Amino acid sequence: MRLTTFLLTSALVSALPYDADPPPSEQVPFEPVASPRPTPPPGSQTYTDIEVVDKPSTPEKRAAMAKLLDKYAPVFKLASTERYYPSSVPFMLEHYEFVQWENGTQFEPNNNVFTASRLNKLPHKGRHQYLSVTQPHNPQPLVDGPESHFLYGPAGMPGGMEFGDDGRGRVHDEVYGFWVDNGRGVVDLWYWTYYPYNLGKEVGYLGWLGNHVSDWERLRVRTVNGTAESADFNTHSGGAFSAGTYRWSDLERFGERPIAYVASGSHGVWPNPGKHVYAQLLNLWQLVDMTDDYGAIWDTQGHVVPIEWWTGPDLAHRIRHTGNHSWLEFEGMFGNAGSSNCWWHSIVGVCQLVGGPIGPNRWFGDPPDCIIGRAAPDHSKYLFYLSLNVTKQARAMNVSTILVEQICARPEVALNGEADWNTLRADQMKVWTVPGRAIPFRGTAQHHATAEPCGGGRSAAKAYRLALYNKDGERVSTSNLRVLCMYEPGKRGWVLSPAVDVEDVDEWRWMLMEKQPEEPPSHTPPSPTSNGRRVGY
Ligand SMILES: *[C@@H]1O[C@H](CO)[C@@H](O)[C@H](O)[C@H]1NC(C)=O
Ligand SMILES: *[C@@H]1O[C@H](CO)[C@@H](O)[C@H](O)[C@H]1NC(C)=O
Ligand SMILES: *[C@@H]1O[C@H](CO)[C@@H](O)[C@H](O)[C@H]1NC(C)=O
Ligand SMILES: *[C@@H]1O[C@H](CO)[C@@H](O)[C@H](O)[C@H]1NC(C)=O
Ligand SMILES: *[C@@H]1O[C@H](CO)[C@@H](O)[C@H](O)[C@H]1NC(C)=O
Repeated sequence: MRLTTFLLTSALVSALPYDADPPPSEQVPFEPVASPRPTPPPGSQTYTDIEVVDKPSTPEKRAAMAKLLDKYAPVFKLASTERYYPSSVPFMLEHYEFVQWENGTQFEPNNNVFTASRLNKLPHKGRHQYLSVTQPHNPQPLVDGPESHFLYGPAGMPGGMEFGDDGRGRVHDEVYGFWVDNGRGVVDLWYWTYYPYNLGKEVGYLGWLGNHVSDWERLRVRTVNGTAESADFNTHSGGAFSAGTYRWSDLERFGERPIAYVASGSHGVWPNPGKHVYAQLLNLWQLVDMTDDYGAIWDTQGHVVPIEWWTGPDLAHRIRHTGNHSWLEFEGMFGNAGSSNCWWHSIVGVCQLVGGPIGPNRWFGDPPDCIIGRAAPDHSKYLFYLSLNVTKQARAMNVSTILVEQICARPEVALNGEADWNTLRADQMKVWTVPGRAIPFRGTAQHHATAEPCGGGRSAAKAYRLALYNKDGERVSTSNLRVLCMYEPGKRGWVLSPAVDVEDVDEWRWMLMEKQPEEPPSHTPPSPTSNGRRVGY
């Protein structure tokens, strides 16, 4: 079942009073493509905003994490119609020829900058620059000269594919496995895949739109004390257009490892084969990701490059990468700049070639798309933690009491099943808050709170947040929302329920001092992120 938390969060947020995030833009964005500029990762920070240190953890810990990454290394099933196969950063670096600034000025750096250990030596670490190839290979009609065959990846080049006994192709390229220690045994494994080229989508007579040189995609696996619990599937900048969070038991697996299906051409990662409609363009064209179980198999076990991301949530400093990992410090774009000279650009916003994406070393500190809890029959139970930083700020503000606020919603329109539920707009549902029982502030120790169920037929608990009160009974801060996903033991997928029993292992992190807007903020379209925006440490 598809869970579209972005629309949901946005709709919930815009139906709530003052202290929520800006309302979403009404229009579904056209996002089959990488943004031509670095998109701020989930959270208002970018990877360049957090402090970088040379403090990797002990060799023992790094070895254990490398083992964990390998234990859950995904098996990617590429589509039978795929032509643009994966490769690696070292492979692609040999093919870049020049660098272009955002203002269009091109330069040819000293050749040895295009190596994994020197890419960060570009001016300003490559920020506002596009690594470029001479043949951007815009297939309109298909430019298919041997000079640009490398854009098909090693397996896509003539004679490059290896085949298994089952007649299906095999690819063996490396994946980049970021491990993110969230404390208390919670470790996220982010598997990033790389492809030299992204084929966009065919949009009627406009042809193939949204092609770009270089494509980064990801699958996130959440582990707790060494055991996988869930996976997040991301496509097209995440959010509503992705499959979202899946419980481990709901996933198709190869032994202990997740199987993921890769969309033909654009390489978004899905939990199952089929047709995935993820957006509608000008109400005219559906944008569709196609996955199937007939193409090449990319088993990444033994091919995961382990990468430590940060020092952990308390210090929250990013680890600086050196040696043959220096390319991770490159802050520019991995492919040519896009064009905007097509006649439909002002209407659709994309031409055939769009700018290449930034690298994979982004922001990984947020919780999964949704917080998993068990559907509860009578009342809700919330177990949660505050981060050290939130605790410190709360002490400084004399916080004495915490209130859990359960966000309830009820559709106000007829629905065909629960899948539709998640795509409701703000004006199609009633949203209200059920305050839980006030509990004393207990620092970083686990907090236990309860709340009454959401009342009325067809209503469901959809999210929760925290409100902090000081000794004078004044509300001093409100967190943002965390969307809930509920299951029933023994049943696949998600269910709706008026109450939930949740043990949230993602400690709460936000900036308490941040000024709360007095009135609803102005209409600025947010980037499609998951819950947990506005993270502060
Ligand atoms: C473009 O930007 C670069 C870097 O800031 C600068 O060196 C160059 O002069 C600029 N070119 C033009 C035409 O403005
Ligand atoms: C992981 O294990 C440790 C030690 O047994 C325990 O204290 C901790 O609560 C566990 N983490 C979670 C999220 O269950
Ligand atoms: C990268 O560096 C590490 C550690 O120095 C080394 O073990 C590894 O083989 C190197 N990889 C490549 C591709 O050079
Ligand atoms: C917290 O309480 C102390 C002592 O009662 C007081 O001096 C301080 O101003 C208070 N801080 C805030 C932010 O209200
Ligand atoms: C908490 O994080 C904020 C934002 O990074 C920082 O300004 C503040 O100093 C931190 N507070 C503590 C007590 O570490």
